[in-house]
Amino acid sequence: MARIGIIGVGYWGPNLVRSFEANSECEVVIVCDRSADRLRNISQQFPNVRLTTEADDVLDSDLVDAVVIATPTNTHFELARQALDEGLHVFVEKPLATSSHECQELIALAEAKNLVLFVGHVFLYSAAVLKLKQLVNTGELGDLYYISSRRLNLGPVRHDVNALWDLAPHDISVMLELMDSRPVSVSCSGLAYLHEQLHDVCSLTIQFESRKMGIVHVSWLDPHKTRLMTVVGSKKMAVYNDIDSQERIKVYDQGIDAIPYNDSFGEFQYAYRYGDTYSPRLVEHEPLKAECNSFVDSVITGTTPKTDGYNGLQVVRILEAATVSLLNGNGQVSLGEGDGVHDALEAAAQRAG
Ligand SMILES: NC(=O)c1ccc[n+]([C@@H]2O[C@H](COP(=O)([O-])OP(=O)(O)OC[C@H]3O[C@@H](n4cnc5c(N)ncnc54)[C@H](O)[C@@H]3O)[C@@H](O)[C@H]2O)c1
Repeated sequence: MARIGIIGVGYWGPNLVRSFEANSECEVVIVCDRSADRLRNISQQFPNVRLTTEADDVLDSDLVDAVVIATPTNTHFELARQALDEGLHVFVEKPLATSSHECQELIALAEAKNLVLFVGHVFLYSAAVLKLKQLVNTGELGDLYYISSRRLNLGPVRHDVNALWDLAPHDISVMLELMDSRPVSVSCSGLAYLHEQLHDVCSLTIQFESRKMGIVHVSWLDPHKTRLMTVVGSKKMAVYNDIDSQERIKVYDQGIDAIPYNDSFGEFQYAYRYGDTYSPRLVEHEPLKAECNSFVDSVITGTTPKTDGYNGLQVVRILEAATVSLLNGNGQVSLGEGDGVHDALEAAAQRAG
């Protein structure tokens, strides 16, 4: 039985408490939040759980084996580092940390102490993404060309990170899962309207090896809730609409084939294909519960989870390089150059006066 402590029960944390409570292999022993109001909310639903406003009561104690961190992004690193230092397995909500250096430090610490470091890329546990992966792996879509996604809504607006860091980790983690290819560079543009240093809308392009591409549009300043991803392959195309509970995925047997050069016309010809469209059956389950079960399983058995520290690092490297591009006017940034994020942030802050 794994004993779990959860830090941060604002908007998202209560869902984690509920999901871990539903797992018979673990017990939520203690919940922490700086806000007494948030704790009152938990005590009404889970009267037997111990409550505290001090993270040290969770981290520096013999009460738990593992800690779940669902606090704002800019607090992830310090809390996770402290937990690993204390010998606790750690689940950190996305994104893992605010820089690749921080991610690397957490990975090294977890490895040195033989502890699980897990990141909450919840969509990788969803039935829809598992189905997309299957469509890619079986070759049904053909060679992948590009994936584009839109994640839009009116709020919630964050105060610690911009829309890119808040929303794009979901899309990036799914793209990395589906593309059997290494990301090499990114470019990103966006604008901040509500707060001069936090971009509300961003458009990110990720170049992968083998001429593959990912395009991500995120915004918390949009009237229409949209969670849409299109996967375009050489044979078929798939559209994943996370808001459509009836037909979450549709597969289109459609495409365009370039046919050989034709001398008599002196130009290329294209053959358009319009085949059937179908919606594959999904073995539905709650992704969050599957994610929490995977963490508990790793804690108990010592197996490496799908969303480990390296998976978290990959996403943060892209966010970091995208930030350099965003602050420097949408230039192409190779992934190795992302470490310049702090210089770019400082330069942008100076420009803003
Ligand atoms: N996987 C998902 O789909 C998903 C969805 C929403 C949020 N999230 C992630 O969950 C995390 C939290 O997001 P949220 O929307 O719940 O934020 P939130 O601001 O609503 O809640 C954060 C809570 O953490 C508490 N807190 C902050 N610092 C603390 C500390 N040092 N010790 C104890 N408590 C502290 C705050 O009082 C607050 O109640 C973020 O990393 C976010 O990216 C993930």
